[in-house]
Amino acid sequence: MSGSREQFGSKLGFVLAAAGSAVGIGNLVGFPVGAAKNGGGAFLLMYAIFVVFICLPVMMAEMAVGRNSQKDPLGAYTSLSGNSRPWRIAGWLSVITPFMIAVFYLVITVWIFGYLYQSVTGNLDQLVLANTFGDFISGNTIFVYMVGVLAIVYLILQGGVKQGIEKAAKVLMPALLIMLIGLVIFVLTRDNAMAGVEFYLVPDFSKIDAGVVNGALSQAFFSLSLGMGIMITYGSYIDSRANVPSSAKLVALTDTAVAFTAGLMILPAIFSFNPEVNTEELTDQSIGMIFSYLPQIFLELQSSISYVGASIVASLFFLLVFFAAITSLVSIFEVPVASLMSEKGMGRKPSLLLCGALLVVFSVVCALSFGHTEFFTKFVVYAGADKSFFDVVYDVFYDTILPLNGFLICIFVMHRWKKHNFNEELDKGAPEFKKSLFERYVNFSVSTFIPVLLLAIFINTVALKYFAYSFFG
Ligand code: ALA
Repeated sequence: MSGSREQFGSKLGFVLAAAGSAVGIGNLVGFPVGAAKNGGGAFLLMYAIFVVFICLPVMMAEMAVGRNSQKDPLGAYTSLSGNSRPWRIAGWLSVITPFMIAVFYLVITVWIFGYLYQSVTGNLDQLVLANTFGDFISGNTIFVYMVGVLAIVYLILQGGVKQGIEKAAKVLMPALLIMLIGLVIFVLTRDNAMAGVEFYLVPDFSKIDAGVVNGALSQAFFSLSLGMGIMITYGSYIDSRANVPSSAKLVALTDTAVAFTAGLMILPAIFSFNPEVNTEELTDQSIGMIFSYLPQIFLELQSSISYVGASIVASLFFLLVFFAAITSLVSIFEVPVASLMSEKGMGRKPSLLLCGALLVVFSVVCALSFGHTEFFTKFVVYAGADKSFFDVVYDVFYDTILPLNGFLICIFVMHRWKKHNFNEELDKGAPEFKKSLFERYVNFSVSTFIPVLLLAIFINTVALKYFAYSFFG
């Protein structure tokens, strides 16, 4: 154990930082869109079951590995496996994955930052024009915004765990929750909002098929920041007095509550600001929804609360999403930075600069792959479709590797590190957990059906994504 390892200053600081990591674009955009597309309440129910019965035990496994080893993911896999070469590969995967996720996450955060800036400076009417989003993501100004976002990430991370990550989370997370609640109250008190609530909550079980189940589990996994080495890294910044099971429950609860509330904001907003909403069009939306669709919805508000009022609502919305994205981006990027620091004995600032330089290179290439540069826009063909560089990074590291990393941590904890070490670690600071029913459930699930399910998802995703082959017809 390294005596000088940085630590969070308090349990609240740890929980807020981990919740800040979890609450991100996945909650505020991915979840409402997923629910709208895939059967409303039926999707919600399935998602909640996945969070409680699958994601929570995996989160506890990651936090326990981090806290026990007091190391970055590569160091943790190496030391707890007794320097086994195959497990070092799993460690490497847990460092490369967040780095590559940071690459595309940075690009989306930059778009959000750009839309925030445009809303605040009174250009909401420009954001609704048909070509704005396409021109924006394929243009050059994106690189100016990228510098801004990188500067913010640098400023937070150079402060370290307590003065940087924890301090930022303590400011940004409460601000995010207040804005979210304020916007939900505003939206739900508008005419026709209940039609959106109905669209969001009424279950339609006929929409649930194998693909939806697979997508919901991937979504829950990403949303809880699992499979990316983050919870291992953040777990290594707490000491043996912290209660891992209760912290993990709080993080999962906050994340799910925010995702659920985001749906209560976005879908009723769409229905109330635009009662003529085309539900077919709505269920076709993806991440582009917040850029090409929501600004129109906000602009509709000008007839009731004036253009300035509509711009304020749009600005608050983008600020909220930006805060969520930045706390997640910081956590994702902290993993390779922390790994470089401990594996190569580098200081925080040089490590940040080196990882940052690499991040810029990859993210610029990602940003160029939206029509700016033909080579990166049509980078490769698989499953019969042209894929951009951005698509490849997203498909490989979000869709494919996350469940694989989840599978690996389960196998590692139960078969290499061993169950008794895992339980001993979880029991520290959590006397109520010892020999509880929950402990038995965590042991059973992590050693049996969770890794089986994650492996099945990994295999299914590879077949479907890269070979257009579906096991489910
Ligand atoms: N957990 C983060 C999100 O949901 C990465 O966006």
